[in-house]
Amino acid sequence: MWEIQLFKLNFDHLEVKAVSDVVTGGWLSMGEEINKFETAFGAFLGDGAHCKAVSNGTAALHMALLALDVGPGDEVVIPSLTFVADVNVVNLVGASPILADATSLDNWNMSLESVEQQITEKTKAVIVVHYAGYPCRDIMAISQLCRDKGIGLIEDVAHAPGATVDGKVCGTFGDVGCFSFFSNKNLSIGEGGMVSTLDVELNKRLGYLRSHGMTTLTLDRHKGRAITYDVAQPGLNYRMDEMRAAIGSVQLDKLPAGNLRRGELTDRYRSKLEGSPVTMPFAHQASNFTSVYHILPVLLPEKTDRVAVIGALKEKRIQSSIHYPPFWDFTAYKGQFSPNDSPVTADICRRQLTLPLFPTMTEDEVDQVCNALLEAIA
Ligand SMILES: Cc1ncc(COP(=O)(O)O)c(C=O)c1O
Repeated sequence: MWEIQLFKLNFDHLEVKAVSDVVTGGWLSMGEEINKFETAFGAFLGDGAHCKAVSNGTAALHMALLALDVGPGDEVVIPSLTFVADVNVVNLVGASPILADATSLDNWNMSLESVEQQITEKTKAVIVVHYAGYPCRDIMAISQLCRDKGIGLIEDVAHAPGATVDGKVCGTFGDVGCFSFFSNKNLSIGEGGMVSTLDVELNKRLGYLRSHGMTTLTLDRHKGRAITYDVAQPGLNYRMDEMRAAIGSVQLDKLPAGNLRRGELTDRYRSKLEGSPVTMPFAHQASNFTSVYHILPVLLPEKTDRVAVIGALKEKRIQSSIHYPPFWDFTAYKGQFSPNDSPVTADICRRQLTLPLFPTMTEDEVDQVCNALLEAIA
């Protein structure tokens, strides 16, 4: 249907072999592939990060909140511009999500000031998102603020595996880093996620939360290392299976090159759209920040009919999307939030459009998308 789709998998015979080796090997869950993937991901993050592979990014966020004892009566500050998973998990643990506005029409992440404004004595945690793969400019300052005030810091790194600030990798600034490996992410598995922490005690709690609070695994018993198990705390089943972990390891090897390629294509978009009425955010990035360019968001001129633009692109068989519809428009959250409290996010949400971006895209395809877009808004 699409000539240029929003995202294409970067899979080849290596992912096929990885899955086929697991299936023929006969061990399907929480085995050597999980260990391999977690160890490699920990090395990728650096700083001695401990990692636990989980079933998806939402599970990772849920576990992070539970590990930090966030519950009824607590407030959690989250960005107003993010995927609904962040607001859902906070509500589901019985806490209240408090929205921090985007910084500006250029910097779509929340700022130290917008977080500080929302902190009260009830604040138990802050969730930072590195939107579109661009590290939150104030992550260091927000991390310091949380330490000073004894507030938990969760990094939602779903968009930003490999992004860095001063050489330090996103996911290692807070208490817990939460990654998603959903199909369209920079590291694609289909469904999958990772929790990371530098804290040994939190790592232990996260391990219990992932697997029923059990003190030994099926593999330990299979290998004769344990006969039975204790349950140290209540837990869930948020495990990843071996097939996914095997794909994850292959994708992790491909990630650095894929991230670089996304950067080149983003530069191409910038040069093609420069001087046009369509603007691209994050134009002014500090040199010590490295983005991983998860998606290609643009801001359409005021009063543009966005639905008509999406339709015009569709006629040329070019797929586009919106990241994100605002929470206050969702049936579940009507009345809980107001656009007036997040005016910058509200403006972005009205005019935002996401264009195709994936590592195997060509420069020619970028040019086709830009030409079609400029024609549509002319
Ligand atoms: C910012 C953000 N947070 C969390 C998630 C949830 O991840 P998953 O779909 O793996 O549950 C996503 C996924 O789209 C996301 O984009």
